Amino acid sequence: FSVPKAVNEPIKSYAPGTPEREALQATINEMSTQKIDIPMYIGSEEVRTNNLGTCVSPHDHQNVVGEYHKGDKDHVTQAINAALGAREAWAEMSWEHRASIFLKAADLLAGPYRAKINAATVIGQSKTAHQAEIDSACELIDFLRFNVKFMTEIYQDQPESAPGMWNRSEYRPLEGFIFALTPFNFTAIAGNLPTAPAMMGNTIVWKPSHDQIYSANVLMEVFKEAGVPDGVINLVYVSGPDAGDVIFNHPDFAGLHFTGSTGVFQDLWATIGNNIEKYKTYPRIVGETGGKDFILAHKSATPKGLATAITRGAFEFQGQKCSAASRVYVPNNIWDEVKGYIIDDANDIIKNHMGTPHDFKNFFTAVINERSFDKCAGYIERAKESDMCEIIAGGGYDKSKGFFVEPTIIVTKDPNYESMVEEIFGPIVTIYVYDAEYFDEAIYLVDNTSTYALTGAIFSQDRYAIEYATRKLVNAAGNFYINDKPTGAVVGQQPFGGSRASGTNDKAGSAINLMRWTTPRTLKETF
Ligand code: SER
Repeated sequence: FSVPKAVNEPIKSYAPGTPEREALQATINEMSTQKIDIPMYIGSEEVRTNNLGTCVSPHDHQNVVGEYHKGDKDHVTQAINAALGAREAWAEMSWEHRASIFLKAADLLAGPYRAKINAATVIGQSKTAHQAEIDSACELIDFLRFNVKFMTEIYQDQPESAPGMWNRSEYRPLEGFIFALTPFNFTAIAGNLPTAPAMMGNTIVWKPSHDQIYSANVLMEVFKEAGVPDGVINLVYVSGPDAGDVIFNHPDFAGLHFTGSTGVFQDLWATIGNNIEKYKTYPRIVGETGGKDFILAHKSATPKGLATAITRGAFEFQGQKCSAASRVYVPNNIWDEVKGYIIDDANDIIKNHMGTPHDFKNFFTAVINERSFDKCAGYIERAKESDMCEIIAGGGYDKSKGFFVEPTIIVTKDPNYESMVEEIFGPIVTIYVYDAEYFDEAIYLVDNTSTYALTGAIFSQDRYAIEYATRKLVNAAGNFYINDKPTGAVVGQQPFGGSRASGTNDKAGSAINLMRWTTPRTLKETF
């Protein structure tokens, strides 16, 4: 098998005066002053309805940058029919041709569409240019290129034969259609969830988060230009209940590829379970859900490195990463020093690097929508009133122009305090200071106070402590970092996903994930 070698897309710097910065700035300026019309894409049709929804910038919520056409149950049925109609030709197309389409999509994103996909993510999701470059352009390019590599590895895996016979494995797509339900926070994940099963020969009904429709529209443009045939990926904007009613009652529903909240995933799983007799085949259920990701520091940790990991891990993209550091356990011997650094960092962000993502100097912008803003404000107000808590940085919020919540650090005396154990999905990190001589107790708290197990980090200069924590916390995180922040997994380098309430751990961007989208047939031929 010969395929181009998968390498990670180099991250551009966007330093002042670079061509990429000028191109992105110009694209942001142009797109943010337009209001585009966003149809659904079903089969070969761009579908428009009389029912319009709006796309706004979270950092400037009066600025309507797009109007999208909302669908209903009929559109879901049409999308399923389009997916089923396209299925046979797509499944029969050789894997090399399917792979070529997605490699071309990767090259379009790396080249002519790079500024556009980054600008759409900056404008529509309030991601800074640097985060958009890492989390949208590069991560999606990597998903596409590495998944082609994993796909070829799967297809090459063949059984042994004996004299007089030939055994083969045929990696068929699933029998039916796949439903991709995608989140707002990573344009890359929104792109990966429909394309990974499509690569394996499946056809897709794709429903993005309302808050990511603006950049989903650009992704669809890229997929079309790359040559994804009509009907292979169908993009609809419908309510959750409308989608669910039609999809989960359909006999050809064959799989769910999901990233979103734990509660929604559990509801969908229950619905699928209740309907199991309706389906032709057992559906594959793949989900990456919530996180309450930890940093555990040992008394030997280096305060400066730890502090940087806390503020970067907690406040990149306003804490709206499922991998974001949101609970931290610091031993009392280094706490004063760590506290000084993180307060300085948070205040520097608030004073010098918070505001519109259109300004490249900003590290920190608005949260995604009013619901998220109100949720963060609630946690902040309750912490202000609690005897168990002190807010040592941030704590302010203002939604007059955009949904701005300051990077906020809560210190609590209660390791079970709500913001220490519940997922907030915003720029709030909670710290518990423990007695440095009781490392075991801190390990116990990490493992037992949260239902999630997505990412986590240990900071220590003591190899015995690193080895001990790594062993004791074996089930506490699907991605475990040693002396690094728990965010920023790179495709092909740190396969990403977690277990417990964090998901099915089918590692995004891996052969494990792609295996879920194929149902192998074993052939035995005798001579
Ligand atoms: N790469 C992201 C992270 O680790 C998840 O997709 O934060």
